[in-house]
Parts: sequence; C-alpha cells; structure tokens
Amino acid sequence: MLVNGQFPGPPIYVTKGDDVVITVHNRMETNSPSAIHYHGIRQYGSVASDGVPGVTQPLIQPGGSYVHKFRVQNQSGTFFYHAHAGMQDDTIQGPFIVYDDENSWPSSLGKQLSDGPFTYDDERIIHLSEWWRQHHHQRESYYLGPTFRFDHSAESILINGRTINNPLQIMNPATCPGYTALNVEPNKTYRFRIIGGNSFRTLALAIKDHPMTIIEVDGEKVVPYETSFLEITPGQRFSVLVHTANAEPGSAFAIATNYRYRHRGKGYTENGFGYMRYVAPGPGGKRPPRDFTYAKDFPVFPEEDGVGWIWDKLQPLQGRDQILDEQPDRTIKLRASIMKHGDNTTRYYMNGRPPIEHALPLYNSLTRGLRKTPRLEELEEDGYSAELKTYPLFYQETIDVVLQNAMGGIDCLLHPWHTHGHSHHLIASGVGEYNHEEHKDIRNFATPLYKDVSVVYPSEPDPVTRGCGWTKIRIKADNPGYWAIHCHITAHMLQGKMAVFEESPDLIEAFSVY
Ligand code: C2O
Repeated sequence: MLVNGQFPGPPIYVTKGDDVVITVHNRMETNSPSAIHYHGIRQYGSVASDGVPGVTQPLIQPGGSYVHKFRVQNQSGTFFYHAHAGMQDDTIQGPFIVYDDENSWPSSLGKQLSDGPFTYDDERIIHLSEWWRQHHHQRESYYLGPTFRFDHSAESILINGRTINNPLQIMNPATCPGYTALNVEPNKTYRFRIIGGNSFRTLALAIKDHPMTIIEVDGEKVVPYETSFLEITPGQRFSVLVHTANAEPGSAFAIATNYRYRHRGKGYTENGFGYMRYVAPGPGGKRPPRDFTYAKDFPVFPEEDGVGWIWDKLQPLQGRDQILDEQPDRTIKLRASIMKHGDNTTRYYMNGRPPIEHALPLYNSLTRGLRKTPRLEELEEDGYSAELKTYPLFYQETIDVVLQNAMGGIDCLLHPWHTHGHSHHLIASGVGEYNHEEHKDIRNFATPLYKDVSVVYPSEPDPVTRGCGWTKIRIKADNPGYWAIHCHITAHMLQGKMAVFEESPDLIEAFSVY
C-alpha cells in the first residue's frame, strides 16, 4: 500500500498558520476502505478533518475520496500522516512538517536555518517503520480472529522505507540499493526529524559517535538536552541537533536501532540500520557512490532499559503552563484490560466495556447539531455516557486522564497513548494500580511536557487488581469535537484500546474555522 506510489509517503511541508486542503483518493482493492489522520495536528475548529473513521468521518470506500481542510494553528514541528483503518498504517504514512516561519524552510542556498532559538545548516528526516511480510488483511484477521495468541514482531525495521532484510546475505546492488544513507557534510549542524512510524515495537535509536541534542518532542520545542540515544514509541516524534565531525568524505557512521522493554535480544534489532555518510561540502562536491559499505561499528545502547527513560529530565522551552497549577475539574480513569471471548477472539475492554462500533460517524452532516452535551449528572461514575457511548467533556474543563495498564496473560506491556484534538501535559506516573484517594496529588514530573503521545510503562502488578502501571495526563477542553484517545500500537487499537472524548458537541458549529 503506497501513497502516490511511494513509501514512506511524500512529505507534506507547510508553514504555521497555513490553510491546508488535502484530497484523499482511495485507489485500493475492494475490501480496503480507508481514512487518513494527521497525527499531532490539533485540528482546532476542523474536527471533520481528523481522519478517524466512525468518529469524524465515514470510511473512504475504494474509488471514493474525502477532502480534509484545516488551518495549522499555534503549532509547528514534526508530525506525520497515516492511515487510521485496519493495519494500513504499516505503509500508508508519510512525514508532515510544519515550519514555524519562512526562516526554517530548508533551501539549497546554504543559508542558516532557524526555528525559535535554534539554528542549523540543514535538516533530514529519519522515518522509522516496521515491515511485515504478511498481507495487511491477514494481519488484521489474525488480530481480530480466534487464532490470536500474541503480537508478532515485524520482519524488518525500516529507516526511510529501507533495509537489508538479512544483513549477512550478499545482495545484488542492481536489485537492492541497500540501507538508507543520510548524506551530511563535515563541520555542520543538522536537524534530524525522527518520526516514530513504528506501529508495534518501541525502538531505541543512536548514531555511532554522534550524540544528539533533543530540541523538539511531538511538535513542541524543549530545552536542549543531550542524549546518546532516543527511545521512540509508536507515534512519537523528536527533533535533534547533530554536529558533524571533521571527517573524510566517504566515511560512514552507523545509525542503529534496538528494541526496548521486550525482546531486547543481542543488543540491536536484526536489520534496523542505516548510516550517515559524509560527502564533500558544496553543491559540486564529490558524492561517494551508494553502495553496500556500511559502518559495522555500531553505537552502544545501555545494558538495561530504564523505565521512564528521560521524561523527568526534559523541559518545555515555553515554560510552565498555568493549567498545571490548577486543580482538575474531573479525573477520568481509563483502564484497559484484555478479554478473551467465548469464540476465542481477544479484545481490549475500556473500563470493563466491550469495544463499540459507532454506526454513523459521530460527526457528519446527519448528526451534526443532533448530539447534545449531556449534563454531568447523566454520566456514569467513570465519566462515560451510556447514551452517547463516549466520554463527554465540557468546554473549558481541565481534565486529568489516568491511563491504566492491566495484566493481560503473562506480560505487562508498554503502551503509548495518543490524544487526538489536543496535546496533553504529562503530569504523573506510577506503578501498580492508580487509586484516586491515595494518588491524586502525585506529581513526579517537575516540568511537564506538552505532547501528544505519553507512555504507560510496565510495572510489577498490583497483587489484587493486577493493575501494572499508570500515567496521568492533563487536557484543557478547549476544542469542541469528537476526539479519539487510543493506544498507538495499531493492533491494540484495532482490538479496542480506544475511547472517544465527545467535547461539547453543541459548540462545534460555532468553533468551526470554515
Ligand atoms: Cu497517529 Cu489515532 O493516531
């Protein structure tokens, strides 16, 4: 499955404040209805362009099309678009880059680029993804059907769509162009935009002998932080500054990946490699040929996985948002547990409820204006509306959401949760089971980041409830619409690990940008 014949799909470049119109044509085979989401774009006043089938739009049937129209407001940085249907995001995805202003647009004229306080010579995209050799329909029916036992890892980890599946095999350069090579010049500063298009595994990424300074996380600038490696869950993005050495043109430095938290294996993924290749400076500079030379000397990853990575050390550049010092109006706990049905199928239940299929998109011309914000008293204790089958939010509320892991079978897994329509502040996390009375005031991030994916790390299970780790995020309900919140491991989302925040539906019309 390709976008405009390409994988990764063609990058989309816009400037903050732009009005964007994208027409998605579904040219796939008969049983692959689709929808495209712009991950991390908050879609203020344009919920109908968010790309979540059944929630913000109908599925686009083969032969059909859908027009997305949105204004990219108050955000710039590194995003991506991806299919939001079945397992199509294995390969239907591509970068979506928002430049702060004209000064950050790369040009070939050799002028310094700048983004806020950061300056650099040029930028490159590192788009990570996983590649399964199975047909996406087969993968989908495995996850949803009776033979599902556990998640299967991908055969390959791709960097910008490439790898050598078996690095030990001698390849024919005529048929396999090999690993991705990022060309760089000596003595320069590059901004690498790293996109977590991986849809299952959490990956560590490092470049041999080149430390990285993180300057952006999920489309928000951060206080520069130097690290030897990144931890990238599905859906996360980073920008890092990398200074190149005074190295000879032709020299190469390995970019390597490693699994985090599960199946760490021998210290590297089997084939998730690329390399950074030095070329002579200047437009006429000699380019070494693209060949199979790759640096076999790999960067070293830490021996142990530190749970929580460096999330307590990163700080937003913007400073502290005042909503962090408020008391939340409500706290909604979303507890995902795995259920085996009588017919042997496996589903995630959110707060004990089976996954629901919304018969009609919540937002379309038929239902627009027909859904009313309920009263608080009409909601169940956990904030759910049995009538609407969503979690209603009230305009201008400050909401804390607790994402609770629970043991499913033998393992407690890591789960990256993504919020549509809002970025959120990561305010707390803990082990075992979240208990509101006991844990409501825990704040273990001194300087909460504002981002759109937050991780629930695995922990020892609570002996009674089997809860095995939680994370608390804060959202300001300032964007009326229907917003998905889900685990960004695609198979888990498919199995039901998702909820919908229905935010003041009667205000959607009034807030609409168009
Ligand atoms: Cu990138 Cu709903 O996802």
